[in-house]
Amino acid sequence: MKLLVYGAGVLGSLLAARLHEAGHNVAILARGQRLAALRRHGIQLAEEDSPVVRRVPVPVVEDPAGGYDLIAVLVRAHQVDPVLESVAGLDGDVLFLHAWAAGAEPLGAVIGHERVLLGFPTGGGTMDGDVVRHRASSFVIRRVPMQIGGPGGHESPRLQRIVHIFRTAGINAKAEPRMDARLKTHAAMVVPLGQAVLAAGGPAAFAGDPDAVRGLIRRMRQNLAALPTPPVPRGIAAVLTLPDGVLVPVIRRFLRSPTATHSGLSNTSPATEAAELERLADQLRAQERDR
Ligand SMILES: NC(=O)c1ccc[n+]([C@@H]2O[C@H](COP(=O)([O-])OP(=O)(O)OC[C@H]3O[C@@H](n4cnc5c(N)ncnc54)[C@H](OP(=O)(O)O)[C@@H]3O)[C@@H](O)[C@H]2O)c1
Repeated sequence: MKLLVYGAGVLGSLLAARLHEAGHNVAILARGQRLAALRRHGIQLAEEDSPVVRRVPVPVVEDPAGGYDLIAVLVRAHQVDPVLESVAGLDGDVLFLHAWAAGAEPLGAVIGHERVLLGFPTGGGTMDGDVVRHRASSFVIRRVPMQIGGPGGHESPRLQRIVHIFRTAGINAKAEPRMDARLKTHAAMVVPLGQAVLAAGGPAAFAGDPDAVRGLIRRMRQNLAALPTPPVPRGIAAVLTLPDGVLVPVIRRFLRSPTATHSGLSNTSPATEAAELERLADQLRAQERDR
């Protein structure tokens, strides 16, 4: 199997390193300074604030030349359009492993509907110069699966094959029949959360303002209520019913936790984060208009 990871940021680098270390024939596609850094040092990984940096020599490419059995796209939602153009003429399945609330249709319209798979990545971290600082693994984190779904939610031999590839690299991957609803639920939660954290200047600063956290819960509820399907996973529906008195302390605790600190919420590139959130907000608004 010839694999390409398209996008060499935090999660693309982590995924490519794991596939490479498991012995897969994988390359990572990068651009600009990141391309130069990867050619010089390979992928550099460090766990949270650890001074120990590990190098993984994953082959790096600048263009997706030739065909691949699977291309895993790990870019930001607002960066997808040029990626579609560049993979449109190639063969093979394309798994979009990023935040996305517009469904498979606009992706398939450019690259061919039969090639599209949707998923959501696991792991978390931030860029520290050329080094990916990733969240430490734990029993709980390992139990959260990387979910992947085909169009229409059907299980297929192709989906099973892709899940198997990730599992052989020690990634807890799982077929998810409601992938589109899962991604839309994520966007409904993460857009108000990410925008509030950016406005406050970071998760810990936001946690210090309980009124703002109550405003966040209101916006999450509005977004969840406007979704075309019930939230996935079902447990998220608790946000609609639990009182603020329960939710506010839970959210404030999360914002102060290492999980929030070592994740995209502590993004080192606020402009990129803001652009992705705006694109997701547009996608949520468009589906509300369509209903
Ligand atoms: N990081 C986390 O903790 C986390 C957790 C959960 C979910 N997510 C989601 O997972 C997805 C990926 O996140 P991430 O943190 O890995 O993002 P990221 O660090 O910003 O990485 C995206 C990478 O893709 C590259 N890229 C974009 N367009 C490209 C193009 N046309 N050609 C070549 N490279 C291109 C970017 O390059 P440039 O820098 O040059 O733009 C960047 O290196 C996002 O949807 C994010 O919201 C992230």
